[in-house]
Amino acid sequence: MMEIRQGRAKGLFGEKGAEGRLGNVINYTKEVLKKKQKAKILEVGTGYGRALLELKQIFGDKVETYGINLEKNWNLSLCKKYAKQEGFSSKNIPDKIYILDAAKKLPFKSGTFDIIFNPATMQYLSDKIQFIEEAHRILTKEGIAALELEQYRPTHPVEYQNNIEIWDKEGKRIDVLNYLKKFKNIQVKKSKNRPWHYILMKKVKNFNLGLKLIKYINLEEIAPSPVFWGSKSIYRIL
Ligand SMILES: C[S@@+](CC[C@H](N)C(=O)[O-])C[C@H]1O[C@@H](n2cnc3c(N)ncnc32)[C@H](O)[C@@H]1O
Repeated sequence: MMEIRQGRAKGLFGEKGAEGRLGNVINYTKEVLKKKQKAKILEVGTGYGRALLELKQIFGDKVETYGINLEKNWNLSLCKKYAKQEGFSSKNIPDKIYILDAAKKLPFKSGTFDIIFNPATMQYLSDKIQFIEEAHRILTKEGIAALELEQYRPTHPVEYQNNIEIWDKEGKRIDVLNYLKKFKNIQVKKSKNRPWHYILMKKVKNFNLGLKLIKYINLEEIAPSPVFWGSKSIYRIL
């Protein structure tokens, strides 16, 4: 029996799962399936793939499921082992798990995925804003991206509480949520019982968040989790 790291097996349901973090992925999928016969789903930061296994269990052939993990051994064979141990049918295995850094340009054509979600993962990405722009690029016109921001950690010392900072050229600090709310294809929502938010994003013709990454600090290099979590990314308005 392999020992399961529960932090990478949160799945879809409940407060700990995707639902508490970025809303109801089942409902997002149902929305897309009103307009399309089949939905292509991408979970960024897939862990063992529990959420993708659950989605396939619910929607069967109506969905194709894809994942992304950073580390080489967090691949499809690990997902298969996990699925077997947890009693999922082999029919529910994701179509593919890509091993790559999701903070870089993503190797998918524009308009590839109908649902994109990223539970418990944004904190690890070096360029969080580029990731949001890339998620928009690869989203279909019927699609919904539900992206957890994890933008605020009150347990960190004050200089590291905001995992995303935005500044203008005059050195004035801009509120991240107010900045994102200005984009008409983005809705900002509160994650359940957490001090941070997620966005629901739709496809529009021209989309650019107009920010340049100035500095990225891996907070876990200062003090490994569970002291500090993830990383901080500082942006300037272009
Ligand atoms: C805390 S786990 C969350 C797993 C799963 N979403 C869940 O809710 O159980 C974070 C995941 O993000 C992935 N990850 C971390 N940094 C990443 C990066 N730069 N690019 C892609 N995936 C990354 C890890 O491989 C891991 O699977």
